[in-house]
Amino acid sequence: MCGIIGYIGEKNANEITLKGLKKLEYRGYDSFGFANLTSKINIYKDIGKVSQIKNIDLPKSNISIAHTRWATHGGVKKENSHPHQSNNKEIALTHNGIIENYQEIKKELIKNDYFFKSETDSEIIPVYIEYLIKKEKIVFFEALKKTLKKIKGNYAITIIYKNEKKIFFAKKGSPLIIGIGKNENFISSDMNAFLECTNKIICLDDNEYGFIEENSFSIYDLNTNKKKNKKINLIKNDTLKNKEIIKENKKIKNIKTNNNNNNNNNNNEKNNEKNNEKNNEKKIKEIIEKIKNKIDFKQNYNNHYMLKEIFEQANTIDYAINQNIKKITKIINKIKKTNDIFLIGCGTSYNCCLYASYLFREILNKQTTPIIASEFENYLPLITNKSLIIAVSQSGETIDVLEAIKKSKEKKATIFSIVNTNFSTLTRISDENIMMNSGVEICVLSTKSYTSQIAIFLLLIYSLKYNYNNAIKKIKKISNKIPLILENNFEKLKEIADLIKEKNDLFLIGRNSLYPIALEGALKIKEVSYIHAEGFAGGELKHGTIALIENKTPVIILSSKKNRELTLSNAIEIKSRGGYIIGFDYINNEIFDNFIEIPNIDEDNSILMIIPLQILSYFLAINRGCDPDKPRNLAKSVTVI
Ligand code: F6R
Repeated sequence: MCGIIGYIGEKNANEITLKGLKKLEYRGYDSFGFANLTSKINIYKDIGKVSQIKNIDLPKSNISIAHTRWATHGGVKKENSHPHQSNNKEIALTHNGIIENYQEIKKELIKNDYFFKSETDSEIIPVYIEYLIKKEKIVFFEALKKTLKKIKGNYAITIIYKNEKKIFFAKKGSPLIIGIGKNENFISSDMNAFLECTNKIICLDDNEYGFIEENSFSIYDLNTNKKKNKKINLIKNDTLKNKEIIKENKKIKNIKTNNNNNNNNNNNEKNNEKNNEKNNEKKIKEIIEKIKNKIDFKQNYNNHYMLKEIFEQANTIDYAINQNIKKITKIINKIKKTNDIFLIGCGTSYNCCLYASYLFREILNKQTTPIIASEFENYLPLITNKSLIIAVSQSGETIDVLEAIKKSKEKKATIFSIVNTNFSTLTRISDENIMMNSGVEICVLSTKSYTSQIAIFLLLIYSLKYNYNNAIKKIKKISNKIPLILENNFEKLKEIADLIKEKNDLFLIGRNSLYPIALEGALKIKEVSYIHAEGFAGGELKHGTIALIENKTPVIILSSKKNRELTLSNAIEIKSRGGYIIGFDYINNEIFDNFIEIPNIDEDNSILMIIPLQILSYFLAINRGCDPDKPRNLAKSVTVI
């Protein structure tokens, strides 16, 4: 969604904010703009892509704020893009979020002879500040504070004012982070915009406002008006963090083995584990090379994050299960004692919750309720101080998830989160976090983060059923098969995509825990290729969807040992109505018109099913001329309701 970057310091602010906006492109946007400060405020904005811009047509400056806009209030037009200015052009603002009472404030301002250039809710903020400065004869900062008290809704805002060498900011509901540098400071809605320049950050909380200067920052509480002291956090890179966890876990394992006098066995086990990891990494590299040679990789596929991130899953699943043993033990002990478990997420993360709920029931005999975060209100009467909420979110900023968690906290429920983004809002409001360790996911679609979420649930569930070490072994057994899936099916999936690329509809069928996988596969296909794709439970076929099966309608059948007979009977029904059947299983069947072989393992093989579905979506997008990394209308992180 919308992105903000601001810079104040000794360097060229235009260059830094332009670079910053390019880092925010992955979040999705349709227009962009910059404001900088010289003796006056200068504005440059446009619709389209920031990536195409080399320089911005603005005078040199050391203070700049910039924004990528994802249209909500008002269409995709230059006038609606940010920064917005006050009528006297002395104030410029960027805003993420929604001002709910903007119409009422706009009317008041129009009555007082102020005018508006855009259809946005955001423009009322600089205009109202100007109005207060003039009407009440107060200084800018006082007028800002009064404006913040007047507006209702969610916001992350940055403002520059002609007469002060500062970037002012305020936050409520939408993320905003300060980056502390040497003779320079940054502010952004996403720290990726400035992490290249500094790894020292301050996470702003709701109802905080203030300003950054070249060598200092000031943060105030909007409710008390008092200045606040905030902790500066250091961001460590993922490799370093992974190493630290491995070291910590080794210490714990050593203590245990010394007690058991079992040193030799343990050393052998450790060596085997190390060798497996090395072999796996080597194998992945070899396979990627092979695939690159087989297809015209350079020409068409080389530059897409989606494909890169799909490949990375052979490793990211292992990173996801590299968790601190003490923490996992604490979490599973809580799960063991709780009968009141709710799993919350949106989109792909919800599909993961639905999948996990099947496993909680099947493997642990434990009832858990998966909830689409935006529907959480309906479950609120069931939440008590005994409830355990597990929130799942790649970004940790999805507004519906955050709202659900805030409401659960009011009921004193315990909150655990499975998150990818360090220091995101969700990590800061949860009682315990399990980080996915997937690295930044640039493609708008969730791929590696989805399999990491699943791997973490498997870690919790298998640790409870067996023990931590066995859980790790079982999951590694699954992730070790990923190179094979990539190698054996890559070209075949490209061929299937060629065959079905002109179709308007596509269906996916799964039963039991493969039903959520069918939903996730359908989501991937529709969001990236714009083919109407629908996943459904096999048993539901006769209750409606079968009416849509025509000659050559493609239907993907996901089956495995547990549900093969019933799922195949669905396939036969579809085939007899002319459907084109693509089977995903480890056993081929004559009913399949095409077949993707999934390795046969005892453990749940859902992760292995989703990877070829992701690749198929990718090829469908390419074949239909769609940009796989930035699908139309979608944003990486949905921060407004
Ligand atoms: C689909 C996709 C979305 C997200 C959803 C939740 O590929 O990416 O459906 O899964 O917007 O996002 P997070 O996980 O950041 O809460």
